[in-house]
Amino acid sequence: MRHINVPHNTNPDPEAIKPSRRKFLQSAAAAAAVTAAPLAHAQQPSTTSAPQPSAPETAAPLMPVKLTINGHAYEMQLEARTTLLDALREYASLTGTKKGCDRGQCGACTVIANGRRINSCLTLAVMHNGDTIVTVEGLANAQTLSLSPIQKAFIDHDAFQCGFCTPGQLCSAIALIDEFRAGDASAATADVRYRPPQLSDDEIRERMSGNICRCGAYPNIVAAVKTVAINKA
Ligand code: FES
Ligand code: FES
Repeated sequence: MRHINVPHNTNPDPEAIKPSRRKFLQSAAAAAAVTAAPLAHAQQPSTTSAPQPSAPETAAPLMPVKLTINGHAYEMQLEARTTLLDALREYASLTGTKKGCDRGQCGACTVIANGRRINSCLTLAVMHNGDTIVTVEGLANAQTLSLSPIQKAFIDHDAFQCGFCTPGQLCSAIALIDEFRAGDASAATADVRYRPPQLSDDEIRERMSGNICRCGAYPNIVAAVKTVAINKA
């Protein structure tokens, strides 16, 4: 703590201390001005007549991207830096796919591209030119207006609360059941040379571990996936 020594005054006349107080305030103001001077200079726009660099181009060139999304053909003109997630949400207006972390950590953006589940926030749309994409909007049968088995199972098992992670969970679940049936092993597979006869809870937890649920509906998600996996086996 900083201490200031005040000289002892046997005659504390308020008028007598005014000059020293004024001096103190003046010197404090001067010190503040000196300290702030470099910053103020740095923030001032340059007044010299030196040539300024031209402003950077803001509009990036657009590239044509063709996608088949949920059975429908889409043609978009996108900047090369556009992620598949943004292409789906902002350009195709398919906002069912959610943006959670936008950095590959939560799985909310999971879609199925050419049969494989991917985090759509981690991949550029131009890299999928010509691909077939399935999002949560494409899971139900549009003709019969009936939900897919995994959607029904999620409802039956109460496998969501807020629902934000659910589109990604559903896409992931569909793909994982197909991966299991195709014989893909996981870190939970006891012997990777043989496909287990059924998806165990551990297998489902491991294979769904890329999909985070902040509501903690995991036990019910596992139960829903297991039901569909058994019926499909
Ligand atoms: S938004 Fe893509 S993994 Fe989280
Ligand atoms: S249901 Fe809320 S985050 Fe999964």
